[in-house]
Amino acid sequence: MIIRPVKLKDFAALMNLEPLPNQKHFASNFESTYPNRKPHEDYFCIEVDKVLVGFFYFDRAYSHTHTFANPKDLGVRNLLIGKGHQRKGYGRKALERMAMIAQGRYPEYRTLCLTVNKKNVAGYNLYVTSGFEDTNKLYSGGDYGLQHVLRRAL
Ligand SMILES: CC(C)(COP(=O)(O)OP(=O)(O)OC[C@H]1O[C@@H](n2cnc3c(N)ncnc32)[C@H](O)[C@@H]1OP(=O)(O)O)[C@@H](O)C(=O)NCCC(=O)NCCS
Repeated sequence: MIIRPVKLKDFAALMNLEPLPNQKHFASNFESTYPNRKPHEDYFCIEVDKVLVGFFYFDRAYSHTHTFANPKDLGVRNLLIGKGHQRKGYGRKALERMAMIAQGRYPEYRTLCLTVNKKNVAGYNLYVTSGFEDTNKLYSGGDYGLQHVLRRAL
C-alpha cells in the first residue's frame, strides 16, 4: 500500500470511488469534497497494487472549526475506501500508515483527531481497533446526528 498526495492524474480514478448506499452519510465521494477543499486541507490517496482504493484528507486547522479540538490535533477527515475494496484490511492499514505520514510531515501536531457517526458501526470498530481512543465526548456538528470524538497519539 502507498499513501501519497493526490495528483491531477488521479482524479478520474478517485471519482469512481463510492461508498455503499448505506454509508453515504458517513463520507463523501471525491467529486463532492475535493472541489470545495480549503488551503489547510491536504488530500491523500490510498493505492494498492497501482489501483486507487480510497482517499482522505488531513485538516491542519481542525481546531478552528471543531470546538472540542486543540491546536495540536491534526484532523483526519472523510476516509473513504471504495465500496468494491472494503473488508480487505485496507482501512486498517491506511490508518497505520497515516500515523507515520503525519509524524513525518506534520511534526508540530501531537495527535490525530476525528469524529465518527454513532450510526457508523464499521467506522467506529475500525478506529477503536486501530489505536484510536474514544474520548467519550459526543459532537453534534455533523448533518446526520451525533458523532464520537476519537484521538490517537502521534
Ligand atoms: C469504514 C471503512 C473506512 C473501513 O474500511 P475497510 O477497508 O473496509 O476496513 P478493514 O477491512 O480494514 O476492516 C478493519 C475493521 O473495521 C471494522 N469493519 C470494517 N467494515 C465493517 C463492517 N461492514 N461492519 C462491521 N465492522 C466493520 C472491523 O472491525 C474490521 O476488522 P475485522 O475485519 O478484523 O473485523 C469503510 O467501510 C468505508 O470507507 N466506509 C464508508 C466511509 C466511512 O464510514 N468512513 C469513515 C468516516 S469517519
